Amino acid sequence: MPNSDKPREQWGSRIGLILAVAGNAIGLGNFLRFPVQAAQNGGGAFMIPYFIAFLLLGIPLMWIEWGIGRYGGKFRHGSAPGMFDVLWNHPLAKYLGATGLFISLTIMIYYTCIESWTLGYSIFSIFKMYFVDNPDFKNMKGFLDAYQGVSAGHGFDSIWTAYAIMLITFGINFLILYKGISAGIEKLAKIAMPLLFIFAVILVIRVFTLGTPDPSKPEYSVWNGFAFIWNPDFSKLNDPKIWLAAAGQIFFTLSVGMGTIHAYASYLKAKDDIALSGLSTAATNEFAEVVLGGSIAIPVAVAFFGVTATQEIAKAGAFNLGFVSMPIIFQKLPFGEFFGFIWFLLLFFAGITSSVAMGQPIIAFLEDEFGFSRKKATISLALFTLTCVNLVVFFFKFGFLDEMDYWAGTFGLVVFALMETILFMWVFGADKAFDEINSGGDIKIPVIFKYIMKYITPMILLVIMVWWLLNDAIPILLLENLKEEELYKVPYIWGARILMLAILGIILFMIHIAWKNREMNKSMEAK
Ligand code: ALA
Repeated sequence: MPNSDKPREQWGSRIGLILAVAGNAIGLGNFLRFPVQAAQNGGGAFMIPYFIAFLLLGIPLMWIEWGIGRYGGKFRHGSAPGMFDVLWNHPLAKYLGATGLFISLTIMIYYTCIESWTLGYSIFSIFKMYFVDNPDFKNMKGFLDAYQGVSAGHGFDSIWTAYAIMLITFGINFLILYKGISAGIEKLAKIAMPLLFIFAVILVIRVFTLGTPDPSKPEYSVWNGFAFIWNPDFSKLNDPKIWLAAAGQIFFTLSVGMGTIHAYASYLKAKDDIALSGLSTAATNEFAEVVLGGSIAIPVAVAFFGVTATQEIAKAGAFNLGFVSMPIIFQKLPFGEFFGFIWFLLLFFAGITSSVAMGQPIIAFLEDEFGFSRKKATISLALFTLTCVNLVVFFFKFGFLDEMDYWAGTFGLVVFALMETILFMWVFGADKAFDEINSGGDIKIPVIFKYIMKYITPMILLVIMVWWLLNDAIPILLLENLKEEELYKVPYIWGARILMLAILGIILFMIHIAWKNREMNKSMEAK
């Protein structure tokens, strides 16, 4: 039964809230995903669709999600099913909200797993555990593969080291969630976010002072690295893929379309500002992404390996950049173990402040809709995620994680964002929604944004969704993208899909039960 007599938790301070929401947004995506996306998609030219997406999708969705979240919180709802139910008085509304819980939970399961690698690597750095006489791609990739259980060797006879560090990482996440909004999440943000910025600034200064590490190869320089990432190739702008990549990056990096911002905003007071807070968190994320994230991994890779090799690394994926090329570089730098330690710890802080946010919607759902205590909600979430994550860890090499990342972390974000925009701006009503977002605001949002949120944002979301559906989602669903030598992954890809369907099914069933109980309670009270 919902706990309606107990006061809901609240944020302790404005700065704590902003740091927590910025922490939610600033994640692995800023330091690993962004540089690769920019380098692969036209360098400086990528920033044009990127900023357009930020303006027309990112900022409007940020405000929409803060608005829906604070509004839902007034009715003691901290997750999408209850929030959608108060926006739209229709039996279907709460079931649409299942998407928000599904996405945040599914991403949490695999994201925390990746986050655990960063914790592992920060320890390996300080103890120089991956340091070898002649570091190169082969042996550093070998080290990563062995750690992840893809192959044996490099001191890892089994996957158990990774497994133990994964358990520790989840344990820390659950402990923070158990402590609650103010004593857990806010406190974490107040410690982790300043440290993250300090570490990032130290690393950026180190990158800027690298110059040309090998004077015999003058073209291998940090400046060529910056030229490589930022040189605009405008011809690329004709390719719709670049625009979609930019929109996808904006979603992922701002954590919009996930259901997490709503949960945080639901703990605001009715008259707390959201207009300025939403904007400041989005701006803080962009600073961390474009200025800091864009100045570390790619420029340093060019300085040591040159443009061509860096292009190859970027193509091979975000993990190779962070976990293969960076460890090689740390071994070539004086005090490399220290720089390695702060690089991976920075990633860990970026990751954990995002992953706790992904756990919060489910905790709020169990507390608000079932009256669970925080302890019971956290234990339930822990048991469930720890069961699911086994599949991610053990079947990582078979593409299990990638499949979850595509459906929940890429396609799902657009679907959920489109749903919430239509519900808030059309069903609830654009005027009411815009007033709601502005109420208590420390700034007045320009009225043009009302029209952007009502017309432009959903229209772009619809175009992206349909384009992705036809060009990516259907071919991926039909496994048409798999190469001949990848066919062994098929049963595992289906396994990942069955797991996701099971997660969605359980959430839908729980929503059904929660609302049935609510109806029963209402009719008992009426008697
Ligand atoms: N917004 C988070 C990130 O960038 C999920 O990693």
